[in-house]
Amino acid sequence: MRTKISGFYKKSPEERLVIIAKQLNLSKEEQEIIRGQDGFSVDVADHMVENVIGSFPIPLGIAVNFKVNEKEVFVPMATEEPSVIAAASNAAKQSAKGFFTSYTGSIMRGQIQLTNVLDPYGALARIYENKEVILEKCNAEDPTLVSLGGGAKDLDVHVIEGATEKMVVTHLLVDTKDAMGANAVNTMAEAVAPFIEKITGGNAVLRILSNLADQRIVRARGVFENPFLGDKDAEEKFIRAYELAEVDPYRAATHNKGIMNGITAVVLATGNDTRAVEAGAHAYAAITGRYRSLTHWEVGAHDSMIGSIELPMPVGLIGGATTSHPVAKVAMKILGVETAEELAGIIASVGLAQNFAGLKALAGKGIQEGHMKLHARNIARMVGAKDDDLDKVVELAAKQGKISYETIKQIVLSLEVDND
Ligand code: MEV
Repeated sequence: MRTKISGFYKKSPEERLVIIAKQLNLSKEEQEIIRGQDGFSVDVADHMVENVIGSFPIPLGIAVNFKVNEKEVFVPMATEEPSVIAAASNAAKQSAKGFFTSYTGSIMRGQIQLTNVLDPYGALARIYENKEVILEKCNAEDPTLVSLGGGAKDLDVHVIEGATEKMVVTHLLVDTKDAMGANAVNTMAEAVAPFIEKITGGNAVLRILSNLADQRIVRARGVFENPFLGDKDAEEKFIRAYELAEVDPYRAATHNKGIMNGITAVVLATGNDTRAVEAGAHAYAAITGRYRSLTHWEVGAHDSMIGSIELPMPVGLIGGATTSHPVAKVAMKILGVETAEELAGIIASVGLAQNFAGLKALAGKGIQEGHMKLHARNIARMVGAKDDDLDKVVELAAKQGKISYETIKQIVLSLEVDND
């Protein structure tokens, strides 16, 4: 397997970059962007947001071992949290056949809220009677999207009882194709609102996309072959850990946070809108009226563990930071995806892998040992340990069973004396 690179984690950042650059034909310029030399100038930042004074770097790593719909893929992940990329890579290795995904298509909802409507149900009927005109007016706003086969496709109208009155809320259902689509949808909602006001006699207030993208759903499935090596007790603990997330929102929030550790990292690396994906994921997790797990786990044949995940995935390949952020552009090249569907499938697979790794560790020996080792490494660096001594410092600290600033400082000092 091309993305199964033995000891990738043991290599230096430069060695890893050389491997990725070679496999994906990254140009010298693209490599420099990743190294951070020419990556993200203050000028680029200044054109993206307001009141810029600099930029805030986040580590960019590559998750290995991923195969999605039979295609091997290196997955760029931007995250400040230790263990996330290693856990995803590890879990992907255990899903021997890889991940399989499906996608409902890129339909986004735009909401137009009407207040002061005399006859809310009559107005609802009039909006549907004018559906073709409304869709035409929306589509006149984005001929490019329409020429690509996208555009406003349908309506969905709701009468909603608010604290003060019955409001009429029109949903525009817009196929945004390979764009995330917020701009396209918001433009259409604002453009068509006066016409909807005219036919209903109401006043339009909100004219904005909904982040509960329940018609832009991605599903991923992965089979983890005998992950507990026949240990039935470990298997049962894994399933019980998942079951708690299905019935207890306190656990579900943490369970889904673990999934989002992976998902947000890829969404961020590709310059997509992390908050849109997060808002959609959590709203969807609560769509039954109770906040639940975004994943399901079942024991399959021959002690395999079958995982599946389902969530909205409003991500695109064009527009926003995806096309303006130099590092995101190279990250897209590393992924090698050509459609929003492909990107969504990879992101969902990473979320599923992340959840597998989290549950396996938590239901097993816990996550603190690994975390504390990383913590020790960071402290050792902070107190000035030499790179060559880092493994030794961590090993000695673990042996002492006490990972604190003071113990590690003492160990680093004693090694310095030994080296002298
Ligand atoms: C930590 O960032 C994520 C976990 O808490 C996820 C989980 O509990 O499933 C380990």
